[in-house]
Amino acid sequence: MKARILGTGSCLPEHRLTNEDLAGLVDTSDAWIRERTGIEERRLSRRGTAWLASRAAEAALADAGLEAAQLDLILVGTMTPDEFCPSTACRVQEALGASQAVCLDVGAACSGFLYALATAQAYLAAGMARTALVVGAETLSRIVDWTDRSTCILFGDGAGAAVVQADETGILSVDLGCDGSRGSALTCPGVPLRNPAVSQGQEAGRDGEPSVLRMDGRAIFQFAVRTVPGTVRRALEKASLTEADISWFLFHQANRRILTAAARSLGIPMEKVPVNIGQTGNTAAASLPVLLDQLNRAGKLRRGDRLALAGFGAGLSWGSVVLEW
Ligand code: UT7
Repeated sequence: MKARILGTGSCLPEHRLTNEDLAGLVDTSDAWIRERTGIEERRLSRRGTAWLASRAAEAALADAGLEAAQLDLILVGTMTPDEFCPSTACRVQEALGASQAVCLDVGAACSGFLYALATAQAYLAAGMARTALVVGAETLSRIVDWTDRSTCILFGDGAGAAVVQADETGILSVDLGCDGSRGSALTCPGVPLRNPAVSQGQEAGRDGEPSVLRMDGRAIFQFAVRTVPGTVRRALEKASLTEADISWFLFHQANRRILTAAARSLGIPMEKVPVNIGQTGNTAAASLPVLLDQLNRAGKLRRGDRLALAGFGAGLSWGSVVLEW
């Protein structure tokens, strides 16, 4: 039994922050950002992650022609939940009225949607669920350091969702991986440990470090350029397919130069690699489902098309999924 995508949805906040706007905040320019990243603008949210996730989920359910009550699993990939608890997935359940669903968040940063999709596939294959909602949702603007020009130009807010159901076809193969030893390349500290066992003034773990993103951009760039082609090749091999069998390669939208380098390495034309980073920036776990929904709503996907989705990010983590539409 495979997880087949029946519908998609997305929600991008209305507020646009242009490169020119950013040049008013930090020492940067529209020309530098466009040339080094491909980003022209990103969206910033006035609402939380759960709200964006719920709007994307409603759109995905409508596209699938299903009711919320038919969902028996809700998975939300996010690294920017509104709260430690309850999970964002539980908040989405409440918003949708999906009272039959088991709910959990999946923490795999920018790989979060693919990890969640793979988890849904495993639940469905094991017979533990029949219909699942898989969401990637972020309000990265809450953890961006708006004084750091090397990161604040990159990220944006948004959410994307897919409804999957057990079927004869759907996800054909999955390749996931992590390298925790390189986790320091991209971090965002949580709250410090504060309890009576910790002596005063010595907050364990973190020393009052603010909860903002810190990134070794070059290290992540090199990691991505090497990792994306590798994980796609492994997933294709597992599905007994080649690059030529794939109609669309959807890559995590982190930097346009990473997309072109990955396409070159795989020997695939850029016509098969949709790009929306110009308008969204890097939306972490939301990036792939938003891109998928835009492709779907543009009428570019035909039943039977094969798609390869690949992502990478903090962890360091990576993954890819090959599926039949
Ligand atoms: O979802 C996964 C998360 N992250 C990523 O995928 C990020 C991957 N990395 C990247 O996309 C790129 O490494 C960046 C876009 C972050 C940086 O681009 P780069 O071409 O690797 O730049 P760099 O870090 O090598 O910096 C080159 C120069 C430096 O100046 P000097 O030392 O050469 O004088 C930086 O200070 O560019 C400078 N710089 C900027 N200049 C204008 C860095 N950020 C900016 C900026 N505006 N925003």
